[in-house]
Amino acid sequence: MSVLIKGGRIITAADDYVADVYVEDETVSLIGESLDVSADKVIDASGKYVLPGLVDPHTHLDMPFGGTVTIDDVESGQTAAAFGGTTTHVDFIIQPPGSSFADALADWRSKAAGKQVIDMGYHMAVTDLHDGGSLEELATLPDEGITSYKLFMAYKGALMVDDETLFRTMEVASETGALVMVHAENGDLIDVLVRQALEAGNTDPLYHALTRPPEAEGEATNRAIQLAHVAGAPLYVVHVTCREAVEPIARAREAGWDVWGETCTQYFFNSLDDISKPNFEGAKYVYSPPVRDKSNWDVLWNAVRTDALSAISTDHCAFLFDGQKTLGKDDFSKIPNGGPGLENRLHMIHEFGARAGRISLNRMVELLATSPAKLFGLYPKKGTVAVGSDADLVIFDPERKHTITAANQHSKTDYNLYEGTEVTGTPEVVLLRGNVLVEGEELVASPGIGQYVARAKFGQELRAKSAIA
Ligand code: URP
Ligand code: ZN
Ligand code: ZN
Repeated sequence: MSVLIKGGRIITAADDYVADVYVEDETVSLIGESLDVSADKVIDASGKYVLPGLVDPHTHLDMPFGGTVTIDDVESGQTAAAFGGTTTHVDFIIQPPGSSFADALADWRSKAAGKQVIDMGYHMAVTDLHDGGSLEELATLPDEGITSYKLFMAYKGALMVDDETLFRTMEVASETGALVMVHAENGDLIDVLVRQALEAGNTDPLYHALTRPPEAEGEATNRAIQLAHVAGAPLYVVHVTCREAVEPIARAREAGWDVWGETCTQYFFNSLDDISKPNFEGAKYVYSPPVRDKSNWDVLWNAVRTDALSAISTDHCAFLFDGQKTLGKDDFSKIPNGGPGLENRLHMIHEFGARAGRISLNRMVELLATSPAKLFGLYPKKGTVAVGSDADLVIFDPERKHTITAANQHSKTDYNLYEGTEVTGTPEVVLLRGNVLVEGEELVASPGIGQYVARAKFGQELRAKSAIA
């Protein structure tokens, strides 16, 4: 199958030019002006952007969490992703305490079998190095294409690890070429504050945010940075929300340490106002780290502009409001933590980042596709438009208006964090390895088309770049 995309404005992290793109055998084989080739399918992209398929490095599909299971499985979550222009994501395998990493991987792969709409890889979340997985087994994962280890410094009594587990995992990563990822919040502090709030009768969703102060995130972020430096491991801090966490990351990067940070779409737009909404509606905005004071929005835009933060993910971890979030109706600590977002990352960052002049189109592509692909061993197969790369392409109409609403989304959840937001610019055609996935409002391809991607080990070139910067 060959595809010719004619006359689009190709935007990568580095370039912006008008050309034709020719796709053969799932990869881009030619890029040039007025290409004289015949193709099985011709797409007129004049007036449209041609972007690389986006890469979301942080999702949770079909994941048991908070006494329930996320509502989006691989099929519905990846369908939502495809409509939002995301063609690859990296999902978190959670090692159940007492389980080996091999068993956890087998379990996650069985959840994806036959359901994949886009391409995917896995991170391994390490929860237990005593009774299940061992350091030796952990060291074998990069050979399976799992080249990142995730540790939760919060969720005490569930996923949280102690500093010894964190540090020992970092030591393994420094040997095996894996990137260490941390959910950085001080879980012991939060546990005390939550118990105190409940004892005082404070049960509303707002107390989720008040018991997880920015200092808890700042302290854990700095601790992880220092431990990773001692271990000689590269570190990626997920879902950074506030000045207290941005500052230690920026400092470490200025010093040339191998530290990167990510934020998520929702932290630019949701705030304490949302989690304070009456009639339990605030529960829709219960995720961790929590929504912050609005003053952090500018901190985050500045951080992504200056590369203090290097990627924007979704942390898609969707629950129903009705039936799942309501598990915490009388106790905020029982509200499952997480929110949806896979479908709207490009909509929101294009509208309020690129169109609003906060970041360039090139930087938008870098944050949503190229940097995640580089950091997580997917580049240059994914994350750019180039000869030899997978033909994962988004034909994006920068003029078409779209209203974001739960009523037209593809996630199974019953609400949207950006309900009613009108944006100008939306994907029109989305291709995965040259196969048309989405055309307008239609999902054209069938589940099963997506593949597992074994990721490369953490890139030495990134470490060198960081040291020079
Ligand atoms: O609240 C969140 N973010 N849920 C998903 C798990 C995590 O902490 O990333
Ligand atoms: Zn987290
Ligand atoms: Zn997450």
